[in-house]
Amino acid sequence: MVATYSFESALKLAAKVNWQVEDIIGGDQQLNFAQRFLPETLANVSGIHCLNDAEKLKLNQIRGNSYLHLFGLVEEFIVPTVIGHLKTNGLTDITAAQALLHFAEEESKHIRLFRQFAKAFERGFGSRCECIGPAHEIAAAIAQHSPLGVMLIILYIEWMTQYHYLESVRNNSFESLDAQFCSLLRHHWLEEAQHTGLDTLMLEQLAQTLSPTEIETGIEDFFKIVAFLNGGLMAQAQLDIASLERATERTFTEAEKAEIQAIQQPSYQWAFIGSGITHRNFVQVFNTIGPSSQARLAEVSQQYQVISFNEYLP
Ligand SMILES: [Fe+2]
Ligand SMILES: [Fe+2]
Repeated sequence: MVATYSFESALKLAAKVNWQVEDIIGGDQQLNFAQRFLPETLANVSGIHCLNDAEKLKLNQIRGNSYLHLFGLVEEFIVPTVIGHLKTNGLTDITAAQALLHFAEEESKHIRLFRQFAKAFERGFGSRCECIGPAHEIAAAIAQHSPLGVMLIILYIEWMTQYHYLESVRNNSFESLDAQFCSLLRHHWLEEAQHTGLDTLMLEQLAQTLSPTEIETGIEDFFKIVAFLNGGLMAQAQLDIASLERATERTFTEAEKAEIQAIQQPSYQWAFIGSGITHRNFVQVFNTIGPSSQARLAEVSQQYQVISFNEYLP
């Protein structure tokens, strides 16, 4: 499928990047609530006319908090999927086994990283923010699908973090963002960048064992999970508006809520679905596994494209 990846090179690369949660958050390293947590490309608060600057800052930070919860959530189905693949393939290829165990260990570390950040947020934000969940129930609902469908989801999520760091935060000198949050996005991406190779290798191994009907089921499951995730994101955008009302001690009119929703819902869709499923490396792997579904992927991707925020301006 893609000849450039190997379990051996993944292991070597992993040894080079080996940070600890405590290097990134805790002690003197705390969130700075005077600054935005996410870049505008991910949070999209600037174009909301019914909010003043202080309220936009609050909404940006609420989006930062939901980012922590949403990623903590997806990592919860990545770990058992990787372990499940290892169980199926056994220890004959011991290098592959070590690489997969390391992969699962890193994702467990990421869950701890996101939880530590979420605790720091809760300590400093000043009001209650709600997130969709419980995370383990959502993760379990996703994990019920076929391994092929779940692995395709994981692959796009890992490529998505590239957009979240490389194209949003690195070299971003025009926004003054919280240093700890930038560090989180950078360190997460450093390891996710290697996971994309391991995901591709796992998918290659799995696809070789599947019949055409099983491949079809897996592809169908992929689209079902995308729709399921989208439902969760839309619910999260609603919860954010309630969190913003509490944070700003303001009650929004229906028109104001509609404006926030009209910008935030597509923002969530692009940040957590579109930026991953349109990534060329994801599309390449997807099209190799399910060539007959290429057109469907392209069609579904249209629903999650980056939006022009100008269309919401009065
Ligand atoms: Fe991760
Ligand atoms: Fe990962």
